Amino acid sequence: MTIEFTAAIFRAPDAPLTLETVSIPSTPPAGEVLVRMKASGLCHSDLHVIIGEWDGMPTPMILGHEGAGVVEAVGDGVSSVAVGDHVVLSWTPSCGRCRYCVSGRPVLCDKAAEHFANHVSFDGGTRITSADGEPVYSFAGLGTFGEYAMLPESAAIAVDAAAPFEQSALVGCAVTTGVGAAVNTAAVRTSDTVLVVGCGGVGLNAVQGARLVGARRIIAADISDRKLEQAKAFGAHEVINTAHEDLAGRISDLTGGRGVEVAIEAIGLPQTIEAAYGVLARGGRAIVAGQVADGVKVSIDPFVMSDQELSLIGSNYGSSRAEVDFPNLIEHYLNRRIDLDSLVTRVIDLDEINDGFEEMKRGEGIRSVIRY
Ligand SMILES: NC(=O)c1ccc[n+]([C@@H]2O[C@H](COP(=O)([O-])OP(=O)(O)OC[C@H]3O[C@@H](n4cnc5c(N)ncnc54)[C@H](O)[C@@H]3O)[C@@H](O)[C@H]2O)c1
Ligand SMILES: [Zn+2]
Ligand SMILES: [Zn+2]
Repeated sequence: MTIEFTAAIFRAPDAPLTLETVSIPSTPPAGEVLVRMKASGLCHSDLHVIIGEWDGMPTPMILGHEGAGVVEAVGDGVSSVAVGDHVVLSWTPSCGRCRYCVSGRPVLCDKAAEHFANHVSFDGGTRITSADGEPVYSFAGLGTFGEYAMLPESAAIAVDAAAPFEQSALVGCAVTTGVGAAVNTAAVRTSDTVLVVGCGGVGLNAVQGARLVGARRIIAADISDRKLEQAKAFGAHEVINTAHEDLAGRISDLTGGRGVEVAIEAIGLPQTIEAAYGVLARGGRAIVAGQVADGVKVSIDPFVMSDQELSLIGSNYGSSRAEVDFPNLIEHYLNRRIDLDSLVTRVIDLDEINDGFEEMKRGEGIRSVIRY
């Protein structure tokens, strides 16, 4: 038995996603779950694919990796979720057994790397078929721009059903990535001054992550005054519009010439990664959460790096452990310690998805969220 549904399909870069009817088996294989999607956010990582900045994507592919839904069916051996559970999807499902999993870094899991890099399931296969019978890939192994998705059990994390789907969907990428970059990767301390460069979906969450753990001072930088206003609402004490202000000069003024202990880049541009690294205090750490286009390189001075004990640290999915962090973030939301409501600036139907990405290109809104 198969289920037919509509999905937004990526077939080639620089073209609108096409709405197509596809099909998925109604019974998941052992160890997998079938999720009926209820909401999916639009993330800049999907846009990297659409505009051709990330090359070599297998096609056709259902994009989308920031989703929440309800478990519709479970395969043999699935024990952590049951039919009817509200789940947030994780694009780093983990095997639980490799050296990374057992050392507490499941985002680096051998299986997860395969899953999100090859856009297939753990066994290397696809689960969805086009109307013409072609195998359809699912972005990051999820593919949330369609009403159904089949995933390894560890990619479906049960959360409190009190959270609305639109808000909990964002925990599937922007919130976990941004809050996690501050809380997990940077391990922000109360004595730290934290700079966040880029205040989109990921950056605003880095701001509220720094606030959640009580950073001494939070500074936000962007080229949009509207995003900087939002950054203040999410916890920034100072804002810098780098379209007409010099980042290094303002940071020097704000920190008495010392620089910041933590700088989080949440855009994915070489100049902003270098700029974030360039305003670190001695002993500081720059976190790269933004993802660059294929082939981009940055330049740093290794002498200064060793002399001043500076760190440049990558952050994948906020160095998260989905099983712990997703329910935790949802509870912080329900207890009003983080804000997910203001992140949802537009709720759209699946057929408005291309318009949603046009809006993202123009830098409008924080997150458009598809409601199924
Ligand atoms: N590391 C991870 O695991 C991970 C996960 C999700 C997303 N990402 C990446 O994070 C980045 C941000 O994603 P998003 O969804 O928040 O994007 P977004 O489009 O919502 O936000 C980008 C922000 O950067 C600002 N900006 C653009 N150019 C700038 C410049 N030169 N100087 C200052 N600000 C500038 C924009 O005004 C906007 O506010 C993307 O590269 C995305 O692929 C990384
Ligand atoms: Zn994302
Ligand atoms: Zn593993």
